Amino acid sequence: MTRISLSLAAAGLMSASLAQAGEVEVLHWWTSGGEAKAAAELKATMQKKGHTWKDFAVAGGGGDSAMTVLKSRVVSGNAPAAAQIKGPSIQEWAREGVLANMDDVAKAEKWDELLPKAIADGLKYKGNYVAAPVNVHRVNWLWANPEAFKKAGAKLPTSWDEFFVAAEALKKAGIIPVAHGGQNWQDFTTFESVALGVGGADFYKKALVQLDAGSLKSPTMLKVLDTFKKVKGYTDKNAPGRDWNLATAMVIKGEAGMQLMGDWAKGEFLAAGKVPGKDFACVAAPGTARSYTYNVDSFALFKLKSADNQKAQKDLAAAIMSPEFQEVFNLNKGSIPVRLNMKLDKFDECAKTSSADFVASSKAGSLVPSIAHGMSVPSAVEGAMKDVVSQFWNDDKMTSAQAMDKLVAAAKTK
Ligand code: BGC
Repeated sequence: MTRISLSLAAAGLMSASLAQAGEVEVLHWWTSGGEAKAAAELKATMQKKGHTWKDFAVAGGGGDSAMTVLKSRVVSGNAPAAAQIKGPSIQEWAREGVLANMDDVAKAEKWDELLPKAIADGLKYKGNYVAAPVNVHRVNWLWANPEAFKKAGAKLPTSWDEFFVAAEALKKAGIIPVAHGGQNWQDFTTFESVALGVGGADFYKKALVQLDAGSLKSPTMLKVLDTFKKVKGYTDKNAPGRDWNLATAMVIKGEAGMQLMGDWAKGEFLAAGKVPGKDFACVAAPGTARSYTYNVDSFALFKLKSADNQKAQKDLAAAIMSPEFQEVFNLNKGSIPVRLNMKLDKFDECAKTSSADFVASSKAGSLVPSIAHGMSVPSAVEGAMKDVVSQFWNDDKMTSAQAMDKLVAAAKTK
């Protein structure tokens, strides 16, 4: 410190800025290798602003455990400053009257101009911003190990027929064709990619966004369910209970050939020092190259009592949307910035493809929300549909027709 700043401090003139330092408690479920690196960037950003970071990490991919813990915290009147909440759940939480209005930050930072309108609308309740977005994840990806494919003499699939040809070849070469794990959101991640690839974007929208009964119960849905169940035959017997990042690790090591997973999987490949296009391949899930299943991670901001903590919370919201943060966070996370007009120079080919396909699919009407990741339907419907899909995946006696009837019933959950 210089003598001037020392004397200012002594005179108490610096206390105004010090008094603004607060604590931000942030609930998230980013605990795998790539996720944790991305979360660390958020922590560092807040610490640089002089605030105290209180980590509220609840392990469990997809966030189901995190949401259970969050509910009990909010019910007991002890909400964190921010929680990773997305899609229709933002509206559900806002209706409870527990979220804070971030309009002053959003206006000052020009969020309306910097976000695609459809995404901005989802972050608002009654016209006011109550959540801040960090990224866009694409869910309909297939990750592959090129060495394993070479060994098997297989080629990267672009359709579901080709997928099963590649899977057979990998199996014959003694490689587990499909790395899969054991939570219902992982089953549904595969299911929705099959639905998009087999049924197309219009079918996906009718069945899995509008919940149209005639599409949920249709020959196309039967084909989707048959195809989905066929994938299971190419997973290994240790899949039940496995976390998604351990499944990714199998592809990284070449024990497995492919994984159907959103691009948080890329964060794992990168954290393991792997290079896209060389050590691993990212291609659209079979049959979905012209479509895009999006999953936008966002933080809902809760009402807080302490003025210092409110200030820290607003700084968090502003920082999340800053170009610097959007870049460094998404480089680690595997996703792309949600902020429009960002330069992608530092991003790899997978991210560039994702960005181009996001824009193209948006124009073509084939940009669809992910159900598996909480972007599409009310949480009660989502939960009921996930249960059906996982029951079907795990129960070899359930037929596709039975699963279809259960899906129709699940879609009516109130
Ligand atoms: C989240 C990602 C996260 C993934 C696995 C998804 O629902 O959007 O940020 O990496 O779950 O935990």
